[in-house]
Amino acid sequence: MLRVTVDHAVIRPAAAGDADAIAVIYNEGLEERVATFETTPRTTEDAAAWLAEGLPFVVAEANGEVVGFARLSAYSDRCVYGGVGEHGVYVAREARGQSLGRRLLDALASVAEQAGYYKLTSRIFTDNEASLAAHRAAGFEEVGVQRRHGKLDGRWKDCMLVEKHLGA
Ligand SMILES: CC(C)(COP(=O)(O)OP(=O)(O)OC[C@H]1O[C@@H](n2cnc3c(N)ncnc32)[C@H](O)[C@@H]1OP(=O)(O)O)[C@@H](O)C(=O)NCCC(=O)NCCS
Repeated sequence: MLRVTVDHAVIRPAAAGDADAIAVIYNEGLEERVATFETTPRTTEDAAAWLAEGLPFVVAEANGEVVGFARLSAYSDRCVYGGVGEHGVYVAREARGQSLGRRLLDALASVAEQAGYYKLTSRIFTDNEASLAAHRAAGFEEVGVQRRHGKLDGRWKDCMLVEKHLGA
């Protein structure tokens, strides 16, 4: 597999022009069937709509290319949960294993905290070792396993619920 070195990668807020790269990187994780229950690839327009939501969203850029992203989406439409963000993190295949996942999660937590969120949470397939490890490295707690939480390609999947409290 082609690898890119990302020692000098910068993490920055996502911009409208990143939509194409974000869709490509998301679809890599979707195709691997490790990251999400979704099975329909996303388009550039889908990614542009995520960006247009205006929620905390960061990308990693190396050599002028976007090589990863972390984004927050609404956890619930109940106002009591307005300070809880559900998040996703995706790194391009050729750039994995170089701390970008952890750095993106750290940056997203920081941006979310500044935006007034008090918690980030996500569900991770229990066989997604890389994501579990990256979340542990970024200080997320494993709250518990949700068994048979949904089916992917006809097979039940267990999910680890993770969370990180932001601020004091
Ligand atoms: C999950 C993902 C974002 C992690 O990003 P990454 O840049 O490869 O991870 P990092 O390099 O930051 O790794 C962070 C830690 O996890 C460990 N790790 C990374 N990949 C690992 C793997 N496959 N197995 C075990 N540990 C792993 C690293 O050793 C590191 O630990 P350390 O800080 O103690 O050294 C990336 O693998 C990915 O995009 N996967 C596909 C999409 C996906 O699954 N997204 C998450 C959906 S919940």
